[in-house]
Amino acid sequence: MFDSKVAVVTGGASGVGLALTRQLLDAGAKVAVVDRDAPSLDRALDGLDRSRVLALQADVALEADVQRCADATVEKWGRIDLFHNNAAIVGPQSSLLDFRMADFDRIFAVNVRGMLLGMQAVGKVMRAQGGGSIVNTSSVSGQRSSRAEAGLGVYGASKAAVIRMTQQAALEFAPHDIRINVICPGADRHASAAQHLSRGWANRRAGGSGAETALPEPAAATGRNGAGGGEPGVLVVGAAGEFHHGWGLQRRWRPDRLTLEGLIGRR
Ligand SMILES: NC(=O)c1ccc[n+]([C@@H]2O[C@H](COP(=O)([O-])OP(=O)(O)OC[C@H]3O[C@@H](n4cnc5c(N)ncnc54)[C@H](O)[C@@H]3O)[C@@H](O)[C@H]2O)c1
Repeated sequence: MFDSKVAVVTGGASGVGLALTRQLLDAGAKVAVVDRDAPSLDRALDGLDRSRVLALQADVALEADVQRCADATVEKWGRIDLFHNNAAIVGPQSSLLDFRMADFDRIFAVNVRGMLLGMQAVGKVMRAQGGGSIVNTSSVSGQRSSRAEAGLGVYGASKAAVIRMTQQAALEFAPHDIRINVICPGADRHASAAQHLSRGWANRRAGGSGAETALPEPAAATGRNGAGGGEPGVLVVGAAGEFHHGWGLQRRWRPDRLTLEGLIGRR
């Protein structure tokens, strides 16, 4: 299904990124897997088809590291078709009144600066090759606040920035035939989220028009980053391959919204 496709997944040593890496490999893609944690990356990739895996140890907050990953992928496989811009940290859970600036800086460096660096480095490759598809990972924490989010104000603010940057990028990248979407997971099962991500890409490639919906059971998150909290695992893959998830979807989703955003992202 993805035989000729080249993907890059950041934060691929664990959780959502690892689940998506496995799905992409199963579907035939070649995958550059980026993570700052080299031992975890080695363990995570054990048993996978290494002939189609490029393991890259890098810190997504560092411009030179991110550029090196994009360059290494293009050097090995010539292009980048899919980019899951996914690595993030939650940081300490603390009230805003007491939040330490060093923690604030690190959370924004990884979650916001890292996302932009990824969009820039891979976006330029996609622009040069004539198109591609990017999915940024935000969070329901970026969409709203609640008691369950206590102590996650800075993390949530970083994820809100990811949503806003993706909206802007959708407008700016569209002329280059680059589709970009943001997903906002709640406490979902990673395998499920990843499955629907890759299905959405497949749906688009096949020229599919119908929205694909799924209602996985609410479940505790299994990744190290997972905050849990029983978020209903509603996920919609829209007609144009965009993804909507969590409370924001339940409250605000309308079919015409999917269509509008789909038009912006259509390739
Ligand atoms: N799991 C959930 O319930 C949930 C909910 C909402 C949003 N998310 C988002 O989904 C994404 C993945 O979350 P997860 O639960 O799989 O997390 P995880 O902690 O299991 O995996 C994140 C991976 O990113 C890597 N990473 C962290 N900082 C990095 C850096 N600077 N450079 C390179 N790699 C780095 C980690 O080593 C780790 O392997 C994140 O963006 C997270 O904010 C997850």
